[in-house]
Amino acid sequence: MRMADAAAPRLVTRRTFLGWWMASLLTATVVTGLAPILVYFWPAPPKGQKKGLVPVTLQTPLDQLQDGTATQILAPTSPNSAFVMADGGGDNAAGDLAFGGFVVKDQGKVVVFAQNCSHLGCSVAFNKDQKSFDCPCHGSRFHLDGTVLHGPAAYPLSHLTWKQGAKPDELQVDGLILGF
Ligand code: FES
Repeated sequence: MRMADAAAPRLVTRRTFLGWWMASLLTATVVTGLAPILVYFWPAPPKGQKKGLVPVTLQTPLDQLQDGTATQILAPTSPNSAFVMADGGGDNAAGDLAFGGFVVKDQGKVVVFAQNCSHLGCSVAFNKDQKSFDCPCHGSRFHLDGTVLHGPAAYPLSHLTWKQGAKPDELQVDGLILGF
């Protein structure tokens, strides 16, 4: 190869140029077509909304919670927050929001449930005497471990993911700061 050939700038052939042009056109078409579909399935969270641990104060501290009992928790309202369900069936699903729940001690184990009935989402109440969660809407009842005791609900209560806070009456629950 002569020195002059090596130094000469490489010319883009018409075929290469058309290839790149077609590839760019194709990419732009795919992105334009795909973007609205992606936004539909994974919408951006509303402004100010933030995922994170929601701090709650317990009426009965964990170390004083008797076996076979439950204490209610409510999502804070300042700032407005919600708990996020870890699982679910029926009317509930993982990722759904709950504005209250129950911390339960059952056979030495502490679990936290969302208060939403799996039938149609009414809030269940703790029945101290029967040691069950009862739904006022259509009569569903749940055992302390969240499983169905009586229908029409066909699925257990949803769990909330949590961890102990700095003090025995503090809990950090997976949730959302709603920002309004
Ligand atoms: S919503 Fe609870 S039984 Fe129907």
